[in-house]
Amino acid sequence: MKEGYFRRTGLPGVSGDRVFHSEIEVFTNQIQEIFGEQPGTSGGGIVCVLNGDIRGREAYRMLISPGGIEIQASEPAGIFHALQTVRQLILTGYNGGELAIPCGEIDDAPQFGWRGFMLDTSRHFYSVKTLRKFIDVLALHHISVFHWHLTDDQGWRFPVPGYPELINKGSRRVDCRSNWGRIFEGYYTEDDIKEVVAYAAARHIEVVPEVDIPGHASAILASYPELGCTGGPHHVRDTFGIFDDVLCAGNDAIYDFAAAVFDTLVRLFPSEYVHIGGDEVKTTYWEQCPKCRKRMEESGFERAAQLQGQVTVRFVRMLKERGKTAIGWDEVLENTDINSLPPELVVMSWRGKQGGQTAVAKGHRVIMSPLTDGCYFDYKNYDCYEEPGQHKITTVSQSYHLNPVADMTESQAALVMGGQGNLWSELIYADRLAEYMIFPRICALA
Ligand code: ACM
Ligand code: ZN
Repeated sequence: MKEGYFRRTGLPGVSGDRVFHSEIEVFTNQIQEIFGEQPGTSGGGIVCVLNGDIRGREAYRMLISPGGIEIQASEPAGIFHALQTVRQLILTGYNGGELAIPCGEIDDAPQFGWRGFMLDTSRHFYSVKTLRKFIDVLALHHISVFHWHLTDDQGWRFPVPGYPELINKGSRRVDCRSNWGRIFEGYYTEDDIKEVVAYAAARHIEVVPEVDIPGHASAILASYPELGCTGGPHHVRDTFGIFDDVLCAGNDAIYDFAAAVFDTLVRLFPSEYVHIGGDEVKTTYWEQCPKCRKRMEESGFERAAQLQGQVTVRFVRMLKERGKTAIGWDEVLENTDINSLPPELVVMSWRGKQGGQTAVAKGHRVIMSPLTDGCYFDYKNYDCYEEPGQHKITTVSQSYHLNPVADMTESQAALVMGGQGNLWSELIYADRLAEYMIFPRICALA
């Protein structure tokens, strides 16, 4: 903090090098949307300066003086983050007529590159308009990754060429909140996905898609029962929980299916990463299924759960062949004594921090998203009957105090890409509820 204020009547304009054109335009539109007025164009404004000495892609420096605001960065990402900080300062310092921002200097850079937020769009569906709104507010808080949970037992949410039933059948279920058989449905077209990806990219947010396989597969099996162990019938689930419906680990047709899915994701999502789920995979059918038992025998497995390791390894390799790095929920580490996991697999630690700690000890990169430490926004924000939420409690304070590298050596900590908050949407049937759950916990986590 320094003496004095940067004061003016009306909003300041922004100028800067041509390489920052897109960042300045996004910022200008954000401000216009909030206040209904264009930032000014004359004197005493915000100046964006390229400064190659500032280290770090997202790092920036900001000098706020009575005469104006100068921001410096070596890359457009840094200027973008600086402008989002300016957006915060304007939100607190502008009353629709007069602006007053305290003078000072900000030297800012993130500890972690992966500052994630996951939204479950399977249990309940959210419109592209809603996603845009969320992404824009996430940008205000310097979130860098939108993890888009696109499939689960309660709905498959994007088209895959060659598998039309995923949309025809897999994206529809009975609405469990109504007692007169109302249908709940929705999916994102390719154009929708491209729009979300581009909108996020303009805000320096990477969109990472998740298809949750081989478990959480009811919507897949309702569409293509032959990909399961029993042949069905299955239905898109209209209740919530962990179901026996999993892809048949002894049937190679699941790899043709995965290939079609991965090819689609590779085409639509520029991110280096694809999340393959892998959580909560039940082995009930695998233990009975002749194909699965045969595969176990051929592979020398003693336990059906070892099939998951085999399936995971194959998915990871398929993605690598397509130039992508796989991410899995922390169960992917288990039952892999025979099928050792490819080292590039990134582990997302959710059941606690233990999965992440085990993963870094084995040399995997890790994203920390533990339900024990402020990352589960589907939980109630405090212990009160009237609060929306499921299972347990995640307080704002817990979100503030997440330390993704707690209890790690320096070399282990170097494998931690960052942290992430998740909104599972079993109970979150409306945008306004999602907002209530996400904020302010994501702000604290950020
Ligand atoms: C999870 O919460 N099932 C990853
Ligand atoms: Zn099977």
